[in-house]
Amino acid sequence: MRDVEQTIDAIRAGDVSGASSYHALPYSARQAVLQSLSSGELASLTRLVNDSRREVFDRGETRFRTVAKSRIRTPVYCIDETLIEENMRTLRYVKDRTGCRILHALKAYASFATFGAMTPYLDGVCASGAYEARLGREEFNKEVHTFGAAYKNSEIRDILKYSDFIIFNSFHQLDSYGDAARSLGRGVGLRVDPGHSEIETAMYDPCAPCSRLGIIHDEFARSFPARSHLVDGLHFHAMCEQNSDVLERILESFERSYGPYIHGLKWVNFGGGHHITRDDYDIERLIGLINDFKRRYGVEVYLEPGEASVYHAGVLISSVVDIVRNKMELAIMDTSAEAHMPDVLLMPYRPHIFGSAEPFLKGRTYRFAGPSCLAGDVIGDYSFDTALERGDKVVFADMALYSIVKNTTFNGIGLPDIAVVKEDGTVKTVKRFGYRDYRNRQS
Ligand SMILES: Cc1ncc(COP(=O)(O)O)c(C=O)c1O
Repeated sequence: MRDVEQTIDAIRAGDVSGASSYHALPYSARQAVLQSLSSGELASLTRLVNDSRREVFDRGETRFRTVAKSRIRTPVYCIDETLIEENMRTLRYVKDRTGCRILHALKAYASFATFGAMTPYLDGVCASGAYEARLGREEFNKEVHTFGAAYKNSEIRDILKYSDFIIFNSFHQLDSYGDAARSLGRGVGLRVDPGHSEIETAMYDPCAPCSRLGIIHDEFARSFPARSHLVDGLHFHAMCEQNSDVLERILESFERSYGPYIHGLKWVNFGGGHHITRDDYDIERLIGLINDFKRRYGVEVYLEPGEASVYHAGVLISSVVDIVRNKMELAIMDTSAEAHMPDVLLMPYRPHIFGSAEPFLKGRTYRFAGPSCLAGDVIGDYSFDTALERGDKVVFADMALYSIVKNTTFNGIGLPDIAVVKEDGTVKTVKRFGYRDYRNRQS
């Protein structure tokens, strides 16, 4: 009780320690805190949760820099457990305020060495198929929700074995496998196209014209009524690194099309793409949207972010192997955009390097490029205060998400090690790859 009162006092005083004491409380005490606060005080707790996360992440950056100065072998994806846990606290705060359920999307990050920092906070994982579902069951061991664009006969047994919930992308798939899922007691859902998205890169827009992802409204209206007894929930996913104002507009569109069908269902899954752990993310608006939706429809709400779980919590440390000149200075690294950070080329985007600035803002500008034969294996142009030397290490920010899960051994380039950083700064290399990993994937 004393802990609850002290936490409330700190929150009312606007003291950032209020957030860390809140996070340290057990569930019932956290609820007691929330129930004692006015809506204005709840909003200020949300600000403190963000401020506290920023402080923890500032210390994390120092830890990454220290690791990079050590003798650590490169290239290496370095993941900071404390930072993941801090992101988890923010996600759990959303759960506390709304009673929603939050899953981690394994497609974004599946390095199970750090799942210990995640499982106490989340309700489970979302998977894209049999392998992710199995990893989720074996390594996360909470709820497993699987969505795949089309399941094959040969994989459905495993998918049903490892999943608690299965989401179908068409009525044909529901007709093929829905009965089997229900007879095993699995929750059954349908993915629908909410009819609105605001993603500029078509590659990442599941609601782009002619998208295969999600049943469109006309088809849904035609085929759902005869099958409603087979379905427990609806799922949509239409966001990418976006804020809750976008979710608000998607929900308006989703409800216009599917609102009449929600009563009688058990859950609605709002998908991923919610950048909840980003500093400018409007958590209060998200909380309002979820609470309002739950009140109006009486269903469970699920979110399944991936990036938000590990946002800013991992880096890729790489060494300069050579520096060559061709109209400018080019640093050839021991890491490759193509093989080790594919979204840099696909999105495309320029990852931040610690201590760097935009080209020509500082004294020495370099183009960073990979060791592969691909002419376009270029990470970006960066400037630094001092000249780079061969053997220098640089730290590419935010590389836990969608890098480790997507990397390849193109050109026979070895995969980076994976290392986990603890709060006291100790580093444990949890995975080292070699020639066999390359060879085993060829034949
Ligand atoms: C169905 C689904 N759920 C969740 C996610 C996770 O999204 P993010 O990592 O952007 O939060 C994705 C990403 O593509 C997705 O397709």
